[in-house]
Amino acid sequence: MIDDMSVTPAERKPIVSAADFDLSDYDFWARPMPEREHAFRLLRGLDHPAFYEEMEISFAPKGPGYYALVKHADILEASRNPEVFCSGDGGATNIPDMPPEFTEYFGSMINMDDPRHARLRRIVSRAFTPKMIKQFEADVEAAAVRIVDDLIARGSGCDFVTEVAAKLPLKIICDMMGIPERDYGSVFDRSNVILGGFDPEYGGDDMTTVAEKLLAAGMELQQLVQDLAAHRVERPTGDLTSSLVNANIDGEKLTAQELGSFFILLVVAGNETTRNAISYGLRLLTQNPDQRALLLADLDGHLPGAVEEIVRLASPVNFMRRKVTRDHEMNGQLYRKGQKVVLYYWAANRDESVFPDPLRFDVTRDPNPHVGFGGPGPHFCLGAHLARREITVMFRELLRRIPQIEGGRPERLYSSFINGIKHMDCAF
Ligand code: HEM
Repeated sequence: MIDDMSVTPAERKPIVSAADFDLSDYDFWARPMPEREHAFRLLRGLDHPAFYEEMEISFAPKGPGYYALVKHADILEASRNPEVFCSGDGGATNIPDMPPEFTEYFGSMINMDDPRHARLRRIVSRAFTPKMIKQFEADVEAAAVRIVDDLIARGSGCDFVTEVAAKLPLKIICDMMGIPERDYGSVFDRSNVILGGFDPEYGGDDMTTVAEKLLAAGMELQQLVQDLAAHRVERPTGDLTSSLVNANIDGEKLTAQELGSFFILLVVAGNETTRNAISYGLRLLTQNPDQRALLLADLDGHLPGAVEEIVRLASPVNFMRRKVTRDHEMNGQLYRKGQKVVLYYWAANRDESVFPDPLRFDVTRDPNPHVGFGGPGPHFCLGAHLARREITVMFRELLRRIPQIEGGRPERLYSSFINGIKHMDCAF
């Protein structure tokens, strides 16, 4: 269990029953991890999913509330049934419906349903050709070697998140898209703002300021892709932006707006999630020396299992939302048309009926049917293969060259959506 916390509300009531906390209260997400674990265990123990009022936000009307889906079985079933549990109609990446001015930047396929979703996914997944994926794999290895070289040169005591965990996914996603190195810093900052929630380091705790900063970050990333795309229409350079801008699948092309919002989705999804998995991974290895020893005894044999276990326990994406399109009964609960459900992957990944001793970090866990990359269905993570590759290569490189490396007390992101670590010292 990751037991550290940096954001602690001034006063908090002890959690004895499911009535003692409210998932819509942002302070809930500042509680120490053992309290969060306990709260979700209580929710999983209920006969029916708990229902929550939505929080008031200044830039959208208050919604009808939502059911918290916390059991593995509910998340699998809702994911498999996108006709009933849809991702469009207000979005999947947010609990309140997304205001229309946001959809220009954040309305990509993750927030769409078929047939628009299928059309976009078809176009972009054909741009991820085997040749391109192969090329990324070689790049991942080379980038990881350089990051560990620099870490060794810098020495113990540096911030593992900014110097190691963040660097690999940032470089890979920027290389894929053809973003030049001089823009890495600004891409990093914009994606922190977009996924930074209410953390004062990135967005702030004032709702209106957070919304303004979000829109500004979206606009700046869209400007970046438009500049890149403009050059690549005439002269394709072999990167993903070139493929996307020139993609013509059965006569279908991306519009400028689709390209912009897909670019933002990839940059944000490809960065934060993998960074947090790598940071949690180091912390888990530090807290579980027996598992580190096991891993070191057979690195290639145990790394695939370790990567799955890291993604399960880290669950970098805490939830996705769905809206109910028609009255429907699922696992004994009736959901009415227009209601919302929130799929808490983090909670399902700790479901004791599926994962024996769920808080134990076990690199040999088998089977490990976690839902860290989403449930089975049309929105299953497009970057899962790449993310697994990045985490594997990073830990292989680190553990081969600095097998004793340890992660200190993590400074956690204040967010209900992303399980993030902002900073963490490392020692070796
Ligand atoms: C450990 C790393 C990662 C985690 C935990 C993660 C998690 C997720 C989850 C939970 C979803 C499901 C959304 C849903 O069902 O509504 C998703 C979708 C997606 N992910 Fe990832 N992701 C990771 C890495 C990546 C990377 C590296 C990329 C890009 C290169 C990426 C791109 C996407 C895209 C484009 C979607 C939307 C797919 C669709 O709607 O069809 N992800 N991811």
